Amino acid sequence: ASGCKIGPSILNSDLANLGTECLRMLDSGADYLHLDVMDGHPALQGGQFFLSYTVSSLKTGSVSLAQLCILCRHFVPNITFGHPVVESLRKQLGQDPFFDMHMMVSRPEQWVKPMAVAGANQYTFHLEATENPGALIKDIRENGMKVGLAIKPGTTVEYLAPWANQIDMALVMTVEPGFGGQKFMEDMMPKVHWLRTQFPSLDIEVDGGVGPDTIHKCAEAGANMIVSGSAIMRSEDPRSVINLLRNVCSE
Ligand code: DX5
Ligand code: ZN
Repeated sequence: ASGCKIGPSILNSDLANLGTECLRMLDSGADYLHLDVMDGHPALQGGQFFLSYTVSSLKTGSVSLAQLCILCRHFVPNITFGHPVVESLRKQLGQDPFFDMHMMVSRPEQWVKPMAVAGANQYTFHLEATENPGALIKDIRENGMKVGLAIKPGTTVEYLAPWANQIDMALVMTVEPGFGGQKFMEDMMPKVHWLRTQFPSLDIEVDGGVGPDTIHKCAEAGANMIVSGSAIMRSEDPRSVINLLRNVCSE
């Protein structure tokens, strides 16, 4: 794809030195930073839509009952950081770096303003986590941020399509959200390819298990925003990994 950008995910970095780790990535040529926010907020307040959505997901088999019980309480079974950390990062890194907030949280509505105030540039929420994507998209824009819309591996791309013309970026998850270092799901590539065909100018991001071994598949399918965590973080030479990913992606 043309205009490929590489956004390291700092989830698997040395979190005691998060600011330094971000600087290390930017110095190594990162185009933007992908910041993974995970919570454990009770979703019971999600209300009727949450229920009807999950019931229909149960019918189509995209979630199991056991998964549903987890979903009711937490969006992901892990916890990271919130807007106070983003505010500190913004202070330390200055105005330039682009922060793509990957909001793996229940009720993403509640963090739009705090994240905007903290200095986030893009607010990427999960379609599965909200009852009203349209209102959320509007709110994110009114708060001066770009809009990213993410889908988990079990969610079909047809659910995202109706919103594609209102968002800046679609995120096709290539692992179950929650942890870095998981195996890339190649069977998500048809979603990327379909989106690329339908929406030629849409930014399409892939996230999870992306590195030198899997970037070819992402590039072929048409992704142009590449999140890579452990493959970059664990390398002794992050600059060369970032360059490689960008070159393959832009071929
Ligand atoms: C997973 C996160 C990813 C993750 C990527 O829930 O959204 O951003 O940190 O890390 P790797 O590249 O190691 O899969
Ligand atoms: Zn992520």
